[in-house]
Amino acid sequence: MADDIIAVKPEIAAKARIDAAKRAAMVAAEAKDPDAFWRGEMTRIAWMKEPTKIKAVDFNGDVSIKWFEDGVLNASVSCLDRHLATRGDQVAIIWEGDDPNSDAKVTYRELHARVCKLANAMRRLGVKKGDRVCIYLPMIVEAAVAMLACARVGAIHSIVFGGFSPDSLSSRIQDSECTLLITADEGRRGGRKVPLKANADEALLTCPSIRHVVVAKNTGGKVDMMEGRDHWWDALTEGEAAVCEPEPMGAEDPLFILYTSGSTGKPKGVLHTTGGYMVWASYTHQNVFDYRDGEIYWCTADVGWVTGHTYIVYGPLANGATTLMFEGVPSWPDNGRFWQVCAKHKVNIFYTAPTAIRALMRDGEGPVKKHDRSTLRILGSVGEPINPEAWLWYYRVVGDERCPIVDTWWQTETGGILISPLPGAVAQKPGSATLPLPGVKPALVDNEGNLLDGATEGNLVLLDSWPGQMRTIYGDHARFGQTYFSTFKGMYFTGDGARRDADGYYWITGRVDDVINVAGHRMGTAEVESALVAHPAVAEAAVVGMPHEIKGQGIYAYVTLKAGVEATEVLRKELVAWVRKEIGPIATPDAIQWAPGLPKTRSGKIMRRILRKIAANETEGLGDTSTLADPGVVQELIDNKVG
Ligand code: WT7
Repeated sequence: MADDIIAVKPEIAAKARIDAAKRAAMVAAEAKDPDAFWRGEMTRIAWMKEPTKIKAVDFNGDVSIKWFEDGVLNASVSCLDRHLATRGDQVAIIWEGDDPNSDAKVTYRELHARVCKLANAMRRLGVKKGDRVCIYLPMIVEAAVAMLACARVGAIHSIVFGGFSPDSLSSRIQDSECTLLITADEGRRGGRKVPLKANADEALLTCPSIRHVVVAKNTGGKVDMMEGRDHWWDALTEGEAAVCEPEPMGAEDPLFILYTSGSTGKPKGVLHTTGGYMVWASYTHQNVFDYRDGEIYWCTADVGWVTGHTYIVYGPLANGATTLMFEGVPSWPDNGRFWQVCAKHKVNIFYTAPTAIRALMRDGEGPVKKHDRSTLRILGSVGEPINPEAWLWYYRVVGDERCPIVDTWWQTETGGILISPLPGAVAQKPGSATLPLPGVKPALVDNEGNLLDGATEGNLVLLDSWPGQMRTIYGDHARFGQTYFSTFKGMYFTGDGARRDADGYYWITGRVDDVINVAGHRMGTAEVESALVAHPAVAEAAVVGMPHEIKGQGIYAYVTLKAGVEATEVLRKELVAWVRKEIGPIATPDAIQWAPGLPKTRSGKIMRRILRKIAANETEGLGDTSTLADPGVVQELIDNKVG
C-alpha cells in the first residue's frame, strides 16, 4: 500500500502552472545557470532597487549566505502597495473566528491602511529599523497587520506562539532584547479564553528592554494597563495617517526572528532576511499550491509557527491571494469544523497537519461528508511525516480522489518548502514528500558524511543554498555554524533522517537528533528536562519521544526524585502541570515514569537510545548495554514501564 503510485491526472496537468515538462525544464535551467534562473524568479517581488548580485554562499568556515545582496526592497510593499492598483478591492484576508458566527473580510486596500496606521504609531513610539518587536497575539487579523507594520518600518518581528507560557515569552523577549510587545487582551480557542495580556504582564516582570506594549482589544476581557507603558491599539492608531513611507531595506537586512527548538540548550532565534525569503515564499506558495488568481487559500497553521509566517501571510499576500485566517480548532464546536469552513468560504486550497487528519479520521467520514467540499482543488500536508493510512483517508474522503495532495517537507530554518510534489507535475506516493523543488539539492549521507547513491537511507542534508535559507542564529553566529554545518562539512544538516527509493523519492523518517515532534510542534527534549529539574522534588530527568497514534509523538519522561521524596500520583500530576506552566500546554508530558536510576555510560552520559526503545515498547533489541555503568537499571525501567 505504501508504494502505491498516484499518477498526475491529465486534466490536472493540462491546466497546471507547472507540468512534468515544465518542471524538467526548470530543473535543467537552474542546473545550467543558477544565477540566470534566480534572476528570473526574483522579479516575482517588488524591488526599490533591483539586485545585480544573485548568490554569494559559503557553507564552510564562518558560513556566509547572501542572496540578492545589493537589492533594496520592503516586504510590505510586495504584499500590499503593488496590489492596490490591480486588486485593491479584492479580499486579502478572510478571518474566521473561533465562534462559527463570527467572521470578517479585509481587502488589500483596507489591510494597507491598517498596516500604515500601526506603522506610523510604531515610529511615533520610537521604533526604528533593526529594532526587535515581539508579537504575542491570537489568530486575529491584527497578527498579520502587526507583522507587516514591523516590515514597513524595518523592525524585526519575533512572534511567540500564543500557547507559550509567561516564562517562554520572557526568555524569547530577553534573548533578542525586544523594545516593543504587541499583544491582545485575550485569545479564543475552542470556546475557551487565553489570558494573553495577563501572561504578558507576568513575562514583562523580567523584560527590562520592553518600553511599550500595544494591546489589541479582542474579547473585551478585563486587563490591567500600565500607565505610560501600555497602549490600546485602537486609541494609539486612531489619529494616524493611512499612508506610511516604507523603510528601504537591504535584501540581507533581517525580516524576522522565530525561535525554534534544537537538540540542546535554549530555543534558537532563527533569523530570516528580506529579499531571499520573500522570493522563496512567493515561488513556493505559487508553484506548490498551483495558486491561481481569485482562489481562496486556507492554511490552518498559527502565525506563531513558521508555516503561518510563510504560508498565511508573506507567500499568499506576495502572490495577491485571498488567505484565510482561522482563530479556532478543528474539533470545536464539532469535528466537522474544518469542512464547514471550507464550504462556507468556498475554499480551493487547503493546507493542514497530519495530526489534525489523524484526529479527524477517528470520527469516520460522517462529519466530512456533511459539508460541501466541491470547491477544493489541492490538499496540503506539513509538519511531520504523514502515514500512508492518513494520506489515503485525506485523499479519498476529504478530496474525493479529485485533489492532489502535496506533502511538503521543510523546516523553520528553510523558510519555505523544499521537498514536495508539484501537483501538475509529480506523481504522488502516499507517505512520501516526493522530489525536491527545482533549485533544491537534497542528498543522503552516512554518519561519516559520505554521500550515498541510489535507493538508500541516511541523514538528510542540503548540498547548496536556496534563497529562503536562514542566515544565522540571532546573536550567535558561531552556534549557527556549529548546529547546522559542522556535523557534515560543507553541507547543511537538517536533523532529519530519510529514505530514498528507486524513483528518487524522499520518505522522511523523522528526527535523528534529540528533537521531538508532538502534534507537529517541535520541541527539544532538553527543554522539557530542564523544566522538570526546575521542580524542587526532581533530581534528574530524561525525556524522549514515544509513538503516539494521533500526535505522531508523545512526551515520555523518566524522572529521578530527590532522596526522601515520595513518588505519589499527586506528585505525578503536579509535575505534568508544572511543565505545562513552565513551557506551555504543547509540552504536556504524556507519561512520567519514576526512575530510581537512569542508564548512563561510565562517563555519565544518558543513553537515550535505550530510553527511546523502552518508551516505544521495543525492548527486544536493546542493543549493546555493556558500556553502561549499571546495566541493572535497564531491567528495572522495563519492569516499571508506564502505559
Ligand atoms: C521538522 C521541522 C515545516 C514547517 C512546520 C514544522 C518535520 C516537517 C514534514 C513532512 C515529514 C516533516 C521534520 C522537520 N517535518 N514537514 N512533510 N514530512 N516530516 O517546522 O517546527 O521547524 O519542524 O518537522 O522533522 O525537521 P519545524
